[in-house]
Amino acid sequence: MEKARQIFTPKILASTGMDVKKIVEKRVMEEIRKYPPFKRVLIALSGGKDSASLLHIIKNFLPDKDIVPVHLNLGIDGFSEKSEEFARMQAEESGLELTVFNLKKELGFTIMDAKKLYPKICSVCGGIKRYLLNKIAYESGVDIILTAHHLDDFLVRMLKSTLNAKVEELIRFKPYLPRNGNLIAKGRPFWKVSESLILRYASFESLSFITERCPIGMKKNIERLRRAIDILATNENQKNIYLLSLMKIAEKLEKTEVGMGKTQLRPCSSCGFLSSNVICSFCIRVKKIRSFIEERK
Ligand code: FES
Ligand code: ZN
Repeated sequence: MEKARQIFTPKILASTGMDVKKIVEKRVMEEIRKYPPFKRVLIALSGGKDSASLLHIIKNFLPDKDIVPVHLNLGIDGFSEKSEEFARMQAEESGLELTVFNLKKELGFTIMDAKKLYPKICSVCGGIKRYLLNKIAYESGVDIILTAHHLDDFLVRMLKSTLNAKVEELIRFKPYLPRNGNLIAKGRPFWKVSESLILRYASFESLSFITERCPIGMKKNIERLRRAIDILATNENQKNIYLLSLMKIAEKLEKTEVGMGKTQLRPCSSCGFLSSNVICSFCIRVKKIRSFIEERK
């Protein structure tokens, strides 16, 4: 399994652990203060450094919030068990009880099963995770879901959408999405913080986290894009400048015909959560995966 990528830009190398701590906390809190008021917050804990750092910051800076840490156990051999262990440790270190949603127990299949039907598992897995986090948040009366997507994630996602001319995807990926009916508000307060900075933050704060990456979802083209971004942007500032440029493009496109003609959402006829189709992609996929498993018995 691949270790977490270690990318240290010259500027970051020059800064001390205390500088890193201040920068990360300041950037995250500045973002969160822009959100409408909220009380109950779901934090998606993967077991990794990013979500561990996010939980740590929220717990320390917003002690009055009602935090619901949630881990999705995807049933990936040799990876999910360890991820859950770390997520549990992180929640415990913050004095919180972890809610675990185990795909196998709750839905009857794992991501490994799903991969047999959907070889390009990454986006399918992402969709399943987004749906489940929203469902858990909705059913637990949560006001906002916070995820730990960072600057590098944003750059990769937005650059990929641009290179593939996927305008709708480019418009959709935002640092904050307000609540829309039964779709809970979503915040990504790490969007101005690079992965390397988070890694230094988590190490400086002595947080426990898993260093392995998901062994089945690693896409070669995504990894190539990450490397290309690291070559193009030699420091933290440059990454932020590129991301802001991509966001400007997205904002402009949102005001054009493509952006204005947003698909109307309606309740999925099977689960009731808002979707752009009669039956949402989660319900369709779950049905397909289950019958695929049945047929192979
Ligand atoms: Fe979803 Fe790896 S975490 S495919
Ligand atoms: Zn549905």
